[in-house]
Amino acid sequence: MKGIILAGGIGTRLYPLTLITNKHLLPVYDRPMVLYPLETLKNSGISEVMIVCGKEHAGDFMNFLGSGKQYGVKLSYALQSGAGGIAEALSLAEDFTDEEKVAVILGDNIFEDNFLKDIELFNRGAKVFLKKVEDPQRFGIAEIKNSKIIAIEEKPQSPKSDYATTGFYLYNHDVFDKIRKLTPSKRGELEITDVHNMYINEGDLFHGFISGFWSDTGTFESLLKTSNWVEKKKKLKK
Ligand code: DAU
Repeated sequence: MKGIILAGGIGTRLYPLTLITNKHLLPVYDRPMVLYPLETLKNSGISEVMIVCGKEHAGDFMNFLGSGKQYGVKLSYALQSGAGGIAEALSLAEDFTDEEKVAVILGDNIFEDNFLKDIELFNRGAKVFLKKVEDPQRFGIAEIKNSKIIAIEEKPQSPKSDYATTGFYLYNHDVFDKIRKLTPSKRGELEITDVHNMYINEGDLFHGFISGFWSDTGTFESLLKTSNWVEKKKKLKK
């Protein structure tokens, strides 16, 4: 299976840090953020990865990561202009995927888990991974009934649960047909949550749960929390 890291967007929530560099190149404890999702894909058995990155800092990504050889993966790049949404960024990787199933990870998501088993067992539709959170208003939140997700709501004011959809997804190749049917949301983006709701309507969205640490690093608080977790983990290993 091929992997895609979505590292586009403009990171407005981290201004002024992201005025001088791209969010995914900021440090998370001792390494640039993008190395964490790259490692998650690699630890999940994926060796061919496309990075979709913002146009302004594409040169920095390429200078830093190069062909990927140093990290044990083969890298390709696609450029997104602006911040048309996660689903728009994913659509740029269609040719790279060669009709194969794909694993997608958001460039600001840090996971302790790997997805080796899930990738091995994945055979149809789409799969999302849930984690209980304390601040559900910040995420795509799953409404669950009889152990099935019946809807996902993006940044709900009155969340139907505290289970967030984290930023790791598995898709059959038809995800690209679904993205073509999307229209922009109120915030002007092609939303990945709308793609997931299409799979739900077809009875084809599956889910798992994240057992280890997970955080996005899209806010100052979560960036700091994640750096602290990495530091703690490193010290425990010594
Ligand atoms: O972190 C998990 C959450 O990520 C999910 O629960 C939400 O359903 C999902 O919409 C997303 O929410 P965020 O508001 O945190 O997404 P954000 O705009 O911060 O984008 C997350 C990553 O996606 C970002 O680090 C890079 C990539 N991205 C985002 C946009 C808007 C792109 O590659 N291009 C884009 O245009």
